[in-house]
Amino acid sequence: MNKIRVSVVGAFGYTGFELVKIFLRHPQVEITNLAVRSDVGKSFSELFPALKGRCDLKCSAIDVSKIADESDVVFFGLPHKTSMEIIPEFLDSGKKIIDLSADYRLDNEEIYKQAYGINHSDKGHLSEFVYGLPEFNREKIRLTNTVANPGCFPTGIELALMPALQSGSIKTDSILVDSKTGISGGGKTPKPAFHFPESNENVAAYKVASHQHEPEIEQELSKMAGNAVDLVFVPHLVPMTRGIYNTIYTELTGPLTVGDLQDLYQKRYQNEPFVRVMENGKVPEIKHVAYTNYCDIGMVISGHRLILMSAIDNLIKGASGQAVQNMNVMMGLDETLGLL
Ligand SMILES: NC(=O)c1ccc[n+]([C@@H]2O[C@H](COP(=O)([O-])OP(=O)(O)OC[C@H]3O[C@@H](n4cnc5c(N)ncnc54)[C@H](OP(=O)(O)O)[C@@H]3O)[C@@H](O)[C@H]2O)c1
Repeated sequence: MNKIRVSVVGAFGYTGFELVKIFLRHPQVEITNLAVRSDVGKSFSELFPALKGRCDLKCSAIDVSKIADESDVVFFGLPHKTSMEIIPEFLDSGKKIIDLSADYRLDNEEIYKQAYGINHSDKGHLSEFVYGLPEFNREKIRLTNTVANPGCFPTGIELALMPALQSGSIKTDSILVDSKTGISGGGKTPKPAFHFPESNENVAAYKVASHQHEPEIEQELSKMAGNAVDLVFVPHLVPMTRGIYNTIYTELTGPLTVGDLQDLYQKRYQNEPFVRVMENGKVPEIKHVAYTNYCDIGMVISGHRLILMSAIDNLIKGASGQAVQNMNVMMGLDETLGLL
């Protein structure tokens, strides 16, 4: 079988580096283009010396026809707003596209404008993109050419809540989400609060109940529940390099035990290669999922409340690992190829 030719646009970002590392251990892919804005002509290993001798490919400019001609799948690791300016040029090529930005995740352009503060410049294509959470949308992902890879916060939150919502076990109007993220979640160009002197030895909430991921989370949870989900989302920045930890407070709809919920979650995720349900009140830890594509989920019942906890690596299951998982599904490969 010929190898799948993959390219990355925006390769000199955090997610680009993770994508390349995954490709290097993927038995079915060949990297053809690593496209960057700055540093065109430098080898990838000059930009990321950890890969010296492993990926010395020269970085190219973002040349749409060359990249499209030489790729079967193109990954975009660009900031939101930039993605929707560049991706439309690739859509006519018919090549498979996986966008890691937020630009094609929301169904509604008005909600996009509220969340991101600008008009969507490619709203005509919004409905073509499939939301790339394989555990929820695997069949749609298999059939599409265009995937909007989920956000890092939404991934762990949606996986933690999906079985409870799909089974009607929790109320949909009283979900409180407390999340902690590592600093790499902000990408390689840090805003002031993400700088080491500000974030080290510090914990702070930010964008309380106004984070741009909240509409994405509500959109997808509402689809899972079959009716509108209203939640409060409070992210915190904590001094670790990578990882997201979610603690989610919900109210049960009936008298369920933790054993009932444990069974429900085990059954729902028994065939999912990258979701692990903790047993006997054990809680997930960032250290157990860091550098992997796993999402670990734990649960505790307190009175009428179900408290869910989930942990992921923001750059792997929350970004590049999930993107490769989506590629594997789109290309009909074993979903776990290349992934730990
Ligand atoms: N970091 C995470 O944990 C995470 C998780 C999930 C999703 N995401 C999303 O994934 C995307 C990439 O994130 P990241 O963390 O990899 O970002 P990043 O480290 O900031 O890298 C972004 C890349 O985009 C390139 N770029 C920026 N503006 C550009 C423009 N106008 N034209 C062409 N290239 C441009 C930059 O190129 P130069 O280096 O050449 O300037 C840089 O290499 C973002 O949309 C982000 O929201 C990130």
